[in-house]
Amino acid sequence: MIQRRRLALVWGAVIAIGASGCGERSAHDPYALMEGQGIYKAECAACHGAKLEGQANWQTRRPDGKLPAPPHDATGPAWHHPRERLAAIVKFGMVPPNAPPGYVSDMPAYAGKLTDAQIDNVLAWIESQWPQEILKRRAALLKQH
Ligand code: HEC
Repeated sequence: MIQRRRLALVWGAVIAIGASGCGERSAHDPYALMEGQGIYKAECAACHGAKLEGQANWQTRRPDGKLPAPPHDATGPAWHHPRERLAAIVKFGMVPPNAPPGYVSDMPAYAGKLTDAQIDNVLAWIESQWPQEILKRRAALLKQH
């Protein structure tokens, strides 16, 4: 009986350490954000801009019918969407349900290239660059839907 109780105590400690330790990845985890920043520079900055500024005239379709890459700072459209939708766009690209059927876009699909966790980390890093005011407006906007 005593032994079993002791074992429970040990397990309790192991679980507590596990929960507070490095296994946990949250939006504020500095390692997750650092990885996200690295992925952004390597995979996204070429189109979305080193300073998240996007491409010039991003709201105007080019003669080939494609849109330039939008900014990922607070002037872009990303904060209007929940994280899950952004993750689906990064993973699968501009295909249904992210875009109408047959939609043509330069936005690549990263499935097979980035893991779900890496996609989450790059989006967490992008969101970490938005001002507090935008994060508040986003939370309010998403609550209405
Ligand atoms: C080859 C250029 C290119 C690269 C590289 C690229 N994108 Fe895009 N991305 C685009 C374009 C162009 C669009 C606009 C798509 C449209 O509406 O046709 C877009 C749209 C998006 C959108 C949806 C629009 C929004 O802001 O809500 C997200 C999210 C996004 N990209 C994230 C990323 C992330 C994250 C990466 C890196 C992992 C990345 N993109 C890499 C070109 C690119």
